[in-house]
Amino acid sequence: MTIAVTGATGQLGGLVIGELLARGPAAGIVAIVRDEAKATDLASKGVQIRIASYEDPDALRRALDGVDQLLLISGSEVGRRVPQHTNVIEAAEAAGVKLIAYTSLLNAATSGLGLAPEHVATEKRLGESSIPAVFLRNGWYWENYLQAIGQAASSGALFGAAGDGKVAGAARADYAAAAAAVLTSDADQGGKIYELGGDERLTYADLAKIIGEVAGKTVEYRDLPEADYAKILADNGVPEQFAAVLAGSDAGIARGELDTTSGDLQALIGRSSTPVAEIVKAAIA
Ligand SMILES: NC(=O)c1ccc[n+]([C@@H]2O[C@H](COP(=O)([O-])OP(=O)(O)OC[C@H]3O[C@@H](n4cnc5c(N)ncnc54)[C@H](OP(=O)(O)O)[C@@H]3O)[C@@H](O)[C@H]2O)c1
Repeated sequence: MTIAVTGATGQLGGLVIGELLARGPAAGIVAIVRDEAKATDLASKGVQIRIASYEDPDALRRALDGVDQLLLISGSEVGRRVPQHTNVIEAAEAAGVKLIAYTSLLNAATSGLGLAPEHVATEKRLGESSIPAVFLRNGWYWENYLQAIGQAASSGALFGAAGDGKVAGAARADYAAAAAAVLTSDADQGGKIYELGGDERLTYADLAKIIGEVAGKTVEYRDLPEADYAKILADNGVPEQFAAVLAGSDAGIARGELDTTSGDLQALIGRSSTPVAEIVKAAIA
């Protein structure tokens, strides 16, 4: 069984490969990367390195030669992702890949998040493919809040636009463990949809309280209108377009779109999700 992972030099991809290495021989793992220089560590562990950008259909076709199962990690170039993911899927079809797992977005089918349409379009293309597909609809990484946690711990205020909506976040490593569980499962995964979120379903006021407990001071949540929050992010150096995406995601949290009680993550990883306090401790340290 040969398992390939795209985005293997990214944060999630690296964690997935770590999980796969813990479960089986390195020779059966293919890391698909666009920048070989970033993959020296993976190569030193015996993982096969193949070079392909999501923009290069021929290289993708070569990279997928002999691959049985593929984890397509959604790209990070928002706005370019549908043609990029389509390139990967077409290359997988040409290479005879037998299963594609795709990292989608929690509640993608109904989500109003600005990030959702590219995931929905990718899921649709996968649904039309001859290759069986499994959707790993990842919820928010707690690590998305690393910078905000650091700022909140020093200033005493956590800013956002999520109202009293709950986010069922989990550590990036939890989602990686779930992906590895699916890729190494004996059960048929084709057609499955996993709605992945953590045990802790927190409002931002809950998160502020936890930050305060870890930091040993009072931290309050200050809820802002979406536009005001986007402006604060932009004023703090977040590129304007991305600031709008982040503030819009908070509006989605207010609507409950990054919340789940599915239990799918816990069932896949066989344990509870990593406590957010651990991420908060790391952020403050
Ligand atoms: N659920 C969440 O909270 C959340 C948060 C952020 C992102 N995401 C999504 O989940 C994905 C994985 O998260 P992450 O934290 O691992 O992100 P990341 O560290 O930014 O990794 C993204 C990976 O995609 C690769 N990539 C981007 N464009 C590519 C292209 N044109 N051709 C080939 N490879 C390309 C990057 O390659 P390089 O290593 O060469 O840059 C990198 O390896 C992200 O890409 C994004 O779609 C989810």
